[in-house]
Amino acid sequence: MISERLQKAMNEQVKHELESSYLYLSMGSYFQSLALDGMAHWMRCQAHEETMHAMKFFDHINDRGGKVQLQDIHLLKSNWKSPIEAWQDAYKHEQFITSKIQELTAITREDKEYSSEPILAWFLNEQIEEETNTSKISTQIEMLGENSANILFLDKELATRPFTPGSPFDPTALPQ
Ligand code: FEO
Repeated sequence: MISERLQKAMNEQVKHELESSYLYLSMGSYFQSLALDGMAHWMRCQAHEETMHAMKFFDHINDRGGKVQLQDIHLLKSNWKSPIEAWQDAYKHEQFITSKIQELTAITREDKEYSSEPILAWFLNEQIEEETNTSKISTQIEMLGENSANILFLDKELATRPFTPGSPFDPTALPQ
Protein backbone atom coordinates (compact mmCIF):
# COMPACT_ATOMS: atom_id res chain seq x y z
CA MET A 1 0.00 0.00 0.00
CA ILE A 2 1.33 3.39 -0.99
CA SER A 3 2.26 5.78 1.85
CA GLU A 4 -0.03 8.77 2.44
CA ARG A 5 2.80 11.17 1.68
CA LEU A 6 3.74 9.51 -1.63
CA GLN A 7 0.09 9.22 -2.66
CA LYS A 8 -0.41 12.95 -2.06
CA ALA A 9 2.76 13.86 -3.98
CA MET A 10 1.88 11.55 -6.89
CA ASN A 11 -1.61 13.02 -7.07
CA GLU A 12 0.07 16.44 -7.27
CA GLN A 13 2.21 15.06 -10.09
CA VAL A 14 -0.87 13.94 -12.06
CA LYS A 15 -1.92 17.59 -11.90
CA HIS A 16 1.54 18.85 -12.95
CA GLU A 17 1.59 16.51 -15.95
CA LEU A 18 -1.92 17.52 -17.04
CA GLU A 19 -0.98 21.19 -16.60
CA SER A 20 2.09 20.50 -18.77
CA SER A 21 -0.21 19.12 -21.46
CA TYR A 22 -2.44 22.20 -21.20
CA LEU A 23 0.59 24.52 -21.32
CA TYR A 24 1.98 22.86 -24.45
CA LEU A 25 -1.41 22.93 -26.11
CA SER A 26 -1.50 26.63 -25.31
CA MET A 27 1.98 27.09 -26.83
CA GLY A 28 0.78 25.12 -29.87
CA SER A 29 -2.10 27.52 -30.27
CA TYR A 30 0.31 30.48 -29.97
CA PHE A 31 2.59 29.05 -32.68
CA GLN A 32 -0.42 28.31 -34.88
CA SER A 33 -1.43 31.98 -34.62
CA LEU A 34 2.02 32.88 -36.03
CA ALA A 35 1.68 30.34 -38.88
CA LEU A 36 4.56 28.34 -37.35
CA ASP A 37 2.76 25.08 -38.06
CA GLY A 38 5.77 22.83 -37.39
CA MET A 39 6.24 24.23 -33.89
CA ALA A 40 2.48 24.00 -33.30
CA HIS A 41 2.63 20.35 -34.37
CA TRP A 42 5.61 19.63 -32.07
CA MET A 43 3.68 21.09 -29.15
CA ARG A 44 0.58 19.00 -29.92
CA CYS A 45 2.77 15.86 -29.92
CA GLN A 46 4.22 16.99 -26.60
CA ALA A 47 0.76 17.73 -25.15
CA HIS A 48 -0.21 14.14 -25.89
CA GLU A 49 2.96 12.80 -24.30
CA GLU A 50 2.20 14.75 -21.11
CA THR A 51 -1.28 13.21 -20.82
CA MET A 52 0.38 9.79 -21.06
CA HIS A 53 2.74 10.82 -18.24
CA ALA A 54 -0.26 11.84 -16.11
CA MET A 55 -1.91 8.46 -16.79
CA LYS A 56 1.26 6.59 -15.85
CA PHE A 57 1.09 8.18 -12.39
CA PHE A 58 -2.72 7.73 -12.28
CA ASP A 59 -2.37 3.99 -12.89
CA HIS A 60 0.56 3.60 -10.55
CA ILE A 61 -1.35 5.18 -7.63
CA ASN A 62 -4.18 2.69 -8.22
CA ASP A 63 -1.81 -0.24 -8.72
CA ARG A 64 -0.26 0.50 -5.31
CA GLY A 65 -3.67 0.45 -3.59
CA GLY A 66 -4.01 4.22 -3.37
CA LYS A 67 -6.73 6.59 -4.51
CA VAL A 68 -6.43 9.06 -7.36
CA GLN A 69 -7.67 12.44 -6.25
CA LEU A 70 -7.94 14.74 -9.26
CA GLN A 71 -7.31 18.44 -8.75
CA ASP A 72 -8.08 21.69 -10.54
CA ILE A 73 -5.94 22.25 -13.62
CA HIS A 74 -4.64 25.76 -14.25
CA LEU A 75 -3.63 27.32 -17.53
CA LEU A 76 -0.06 28.36 -16.70
CA LYS A 77 0.32 30.83 -19.58
CA SER A 78 -1.45 31.66 -22.84
CA ASN A 79 0.67 34.26 -24.63
CA TRP A 80 4.31 34.94 -25.32
CA LYS A 81 6.33 37.93 -26.57
CA SER A 82 8.14 35.80 -29.15
CA PRO A 83 8.74 32.18 -30.21
CA ILE A 84 12.10 32.43 -28.39
CA GLU A 85 10.33 33.22 -25.12
CA ALA A 86 7.92 30.32 -25.61
CA TRP A 87 10.76 27.81 -26.14
CA GLN A 88 12.68 29.22 -23.18
CA ASP A 89 9.53 28.74 -21.08
CA ALA A 90 9.19 25.15 -22.31
CA TYR A 91 12.75 24.44 -21.15
CA LYS A 92 12.17 26.16 -17.78
CA HIS A 93 8.98 24.16 -17.35
CA GLU A 94 10.79 20.88 -17.98
CA GLN A 95 13.42 21.83 -15.38
CA PHE A 96 10.55 22.43 -12.93
CA ILE A 97 9.07 18.99 -13.74
CA THR A 98 12.49 17.37 -13.23
CA SER A 99 12.67 18.96 -9.76
CA LYS A 100 9.23 17.46 -8.95
CA ILE A 101 10.33 13.97 -10.10
CA GLN A 102 13.45 14.32 -7.94
CA GLU A 103 11.26 15.25 -4.94
CA LEU A 104 9.11 12.16 -5.56
CA THR A 105 12.25 10.02 -5.74
CA ALA A 106 13.43 11.44 -2.41
CA ILE A 107 10.06 10.58 -0.82
CA THR A 108 10.20 6.97 -2.08
CA ARG A 109 13.60 6.58 -0.44
CA GLU A 110 12.58 8.20 2.85
CA ASP A 111 9.33 6.18 3.04
CA LYS A 112 11.01 2.97 1.80
CA GLU A 113 8.52 2.86 -1.10
CA TYR A 114 10.80 0.65 -3.19
CA SER A 115 7.95 -0.48 -5.49
CA SER A 116 7.71 3.05 -6.86
CA GLU A 117 11.42 3.34 -7.68
CA PRO A 118 11.20 1.74 -11.18
CA ILE A 119 8.53 4.15 -12.43
CA LEU A 120 10.45 7.12 -11.04
CA ALA A 121 13.68 5.87 -12.63
CA TRP A 122 11.75 5.82 -15.94
CA PHE A 123 10.63 9.42 -15.35
CA LEU A 124 14.14 10.57 -14.38
CA ASN A 125 15.38 9.22 -17.72
CA GLU A 126 12.44 10.73 -19.56
CA GLN A 127 13.23 14.13 -18.02
CA ILE A 128 16.79 13.97 -19.35
CA GLU A 129 15.28 13.64 -22.83
CA GLU A 130 12.63 16.32 -22.26
CA GLU A 131 15.16 18.83 -20.95
CA THR A 132 17.60 18.03 -23.77
CA ASN A 133 14.94 18.51 -26.46
CA THR A 134 13.55 21.79 -25.15
CA SER A 135 16.98 23.16 -24.26
CA LYS A 136 18.35 22.33 -27.72
CA ILE A 137 15.43 23.89 -29.60
CA SER A 138 15.56 26.89 -27.28
CA THR A 139 19.28 27.40 -28.01
CA GLN A 140 18.77 26.92 -31.75
CA ILE A 141 16.00 29.49 -31.96
CA GLU A 142 18.05 31.94 -29.87
CA MET A 143 20.87 31.54 -32.44
CA LEU A 144 18.48 32.26 -35.31
CA GLY A 145 17.30 35.51 -33.72
CA GLU A 146 14.97 37.45 -35.98
CA ASN A 147 15.98 35.64 -39.19
CA SER A 148 12.57 34.52 -40.48
CA ALA A 149 13.96 32.31 -43.26
CA ASN A 150 15.98 30.28 -40.76
CA ILE A 151 13.09 30.14 -38.28
CA LEU A 152 10.91 28.71 -41.06
CA PHE A 153 13.61 26.12 -41.73
CA LEU A 154 13.59 25.07 -38.06
CA ASP A 155 9.78 25.07 -38.14
CA LYS A 156 9.84 22.59 -41.04
CA GLU A 157 12.22 20.34 -39.15
CA LEU A 158 9.98 20.34 -36.06
CA ALA A 159 7.03 19.33 -38.25
CA THR A 160 8.64 15.90 -38.71
CA ARG A 161 8.07 14.77 -35.11
CA PRO A 162 5.77 11.73 -35.25
CA PHE A 163 2.56 11.48 -33.26
CA THR A 164 2.01 8.45 -31.06
CA PRO A 165 -0.18 6.23 -33.30
CA GLY A 166 -3.88 6.95 -32.77
CA SER A 167 -3.20 10.10 -30.75
CA PRO A 168 -6.34 12.26 -30.38
CA PHE A 169 -4.00 15.25 -30.64
CA ASP A 170 -3.27 14.18 -34.23
CA PRO A 171 -5.88 15.93 -36.40
CA THR A 172 -5.59 13.21 -39.06
CA ALA A 173 -6.50 10.51 -36.49
CA LEU A 174 -9.81 12.12 -35.50
CA PRO A 175 -13.05 10.60 -36.84
CA GLN A 176 -14.30 12.46 -39.90
FE1 FEO B 1 5.96 14.97 -18.30
FE2 FEO B 1 7.51 17.02 -19.93
O1 FEO B 1 7.27 16.16 -18.34
